[in-house]
Amino acid sequence: MNHIRQVEILKEIFSHIDANTTPMAEAPYWNPVDRYVSSTHYNTELQTLFQGALPLLAGFSPDLPSPGSWFTYDMPDAPVFVTRGTDGKARAFLNICRHRGSRLVGFEMDDSGNFIHSRGITPKVLACAYHAWTYNLEGALIRHPNDMGGFQKIEKEIACGKFSLTELPCVETEGMILVRPHGTKPIQVANEMHGMHARMGEFGFGKFHFYQEVFGDFTANWKLLMDTFMEGYHIASLHHKTLAPRFRCYPVVYETFGPHSLFPLTRKSIDAQRQLPESEWSVLKHASTVFVVSPNAILNIPMDGHMELWDFRPLEVGKTRVRIRFYIPEKITTEEQQALWQKSWKISTDVIFREDFIQQQNIYANLASGRIAGVVFGSNEPMLTHFHQQLGKHTGTTDAPLP
Ligand code: FES
Ligand SMILES: [Fe+2]
Repeated sequence: MNHIRQVEILKEIFSHIDANTTPMAEAPYWNPVDRYVSSTHYNTELQTLFQGALPLLAGFSPDLPSPGSWFTYDMPDAPVFVTRGTDGKARAFLNICRHRGSRLVGFEMDDSGNFIHSRGITPKVLACAYHAWTYNLEGALIRHPNDMGGFQKIEKEIACGKFSLTELPCVETEGMILVRPHGTKPIQVANEMHGMHARMGEFGFGKFHFYQEVFGDFTANWKLLMDTFMEGYHIASLHHKTLAPRFRCYPVVYETFGPHSLFPLTRKSIDAQRQLPESEWSVLKHASTVFVVSPNAILNIPMDGHMELWDFRPLEVGKTRVRIRFYIPEKITTEEQQALWQKSWKISTDVIFREDFIQQQNIYANLASGRIAGVVFGSNEPMLTHFHQQLGKHTGTTDAPLP
């Protein structure tokens, strides 16, 4: 984030601190409970939000450090993997072998049926584990060994690409990898990111290094898990022992870009900068910068300089698989660095998994009980209203009147 913009944001933050205010939505917003618990509404979301209406933030350039690197990105009805070709280009494919449908990369499972590998590197070709059909990194079927001539009669079709991997729209821009998981419509970055990609790009994602990732399944609607990132109101109470000593609840100064948004979650230390000359002011050193990349990703860039990508894969109306990926600004070469980033990883995952997501699971159970008709977002939680209203544009959901 450039310095001029940081100073502008800080001036806005300071004026809110002085007035004891925070940016507000026009009015409280009523979100009926069926938006979280109804299977009908959930299916509409899958058919709209996750069927190609919006490109999804699948990862970052450091997820594919060299040709043959790949990572999986499983979304509803879209088992996807992304790989870098020998030409350096990032491409997304359905992770489905065109012979008889095997998962092509990341197919190994543990005893509980969870995939063991979500990333790797393959030397030049992608070979299916089932019968060894082999594709090049551009997705073309180049070998089907040991078949006793069983496919001779469709050689022509194979040669003209009818049995190549199914390629999906994919763009690598500003160090981000965007994928449209269904359809063939090219991704129009400026239009579909509504300009936020340029703001994200200021962080230089290409310079980061992948550190580690973990998956977790939670018994909650996917939007409830996203909601927890979009307001500071709960910090003083839910996080009173963990985040509250260091972070402010308010003000939450935010910007919106179509369905996406950006806000700094400020530390208490931010205010003391007023004693310094403007040339020394910094948002980044005194706030976590958070990007909401609709519909299903949160990018958090805390003060220590790492970045963490949280993405949310709806499994059922009340079940969601969360993947958290950490990227760090340096390659680890010492035990001290490893200890430092491990500590940072533990802080982030402990707070969000054990405090936020446990809470959201409890809320899901309460909403699913059918005993209340909806939840209300205060004017002091404007980003929640923005997020849900924007999703509604795709799902055809209009604002519901307050009861
Ligand atoms: S399913 Fe892939 S080679 Fe048979
Ligand atoms: Fe939280």
